[in-house]
Amino acid sequence: MFITLEGPEGSGKTSHIPYLVEYLREKGHTVFPTREPGGTTISEQIRDILHDLKNAEMHPRTETLLYQAARAQIVEQVIKPRLAVGEIVISDRYYDSTIAYQGYGHQQDLEQVRGLVKYATGGLTPDLTILLDLDIEVGLKRKIQNEMEWNRMDAYTVEFHQRVRRGYLELVKQEPQRWVVVNSDQKWDDVQAELKEVIIKGLNKK
Ligand code: TMP
Repeated sequence: MFITLEGPEGSGKTSHIPYLVEYLREKGHTVFPTREPGGTTISEQIRDILHDLKNAEMHPRTETLLYQAARAQIVEQVIKPRLAVGEIVISDRYYDSTIAYQGYGHQQDLEQVRGLVKYATGGLTPDLTILLDLDIEVGLKRKIQNEMEWNRMDAYTVEFHQRVRRGYLELVKQEPQRWVVVNSDQKWDDVQAELKEVIIKGLNKK
């Protein structure tokens, strides 16, 4: 089973994933957590280029292609082989981030972006995608207060991040059978409990 977590900045995906992995392992599953962009030596190097605040002049098309390059590598090197032996792969972001950020955020042609995504993934789609939804200003404030990494993407305008969030909500509407929305603006423990419930339901459905 391939599970992806998505959400705007500061939505808390990264802090929740290790506990979800531990929970599933306790239940006897073999689970492999990964993140995008990153998760392989090559993809982590591409992540550094993408997130470096010094690369402020990066064009949206360059950005889009670099995310796809990082993705193609992790899909082939890590995700497909793990799924092939029956493991659960949980990814902190996947191609919906490209549709939301590079498509909706940068207002690029969505069909062209989808074409690139399909090329990068070879058509590999998650079984379950969870949107950790959160008001943009709350999320960005969280990142600053918790002294979390502040990268080139965070530095885009609030309007950009608002388009990203609206984009995610649009994606949920388009494919409600794949998505579950969890409100991230509640106590951490409550979010964690809801995530566990959603994943167990997803596993039972498979
Ligand atoms: P994060 O590891 O803090 O979530 O940072 C990843 C950043 O990269 C975040 O700002 C979202 C962005 N991103 C895209 O814009 N497009 C993508 O396809 C992916 C995977 C991430």
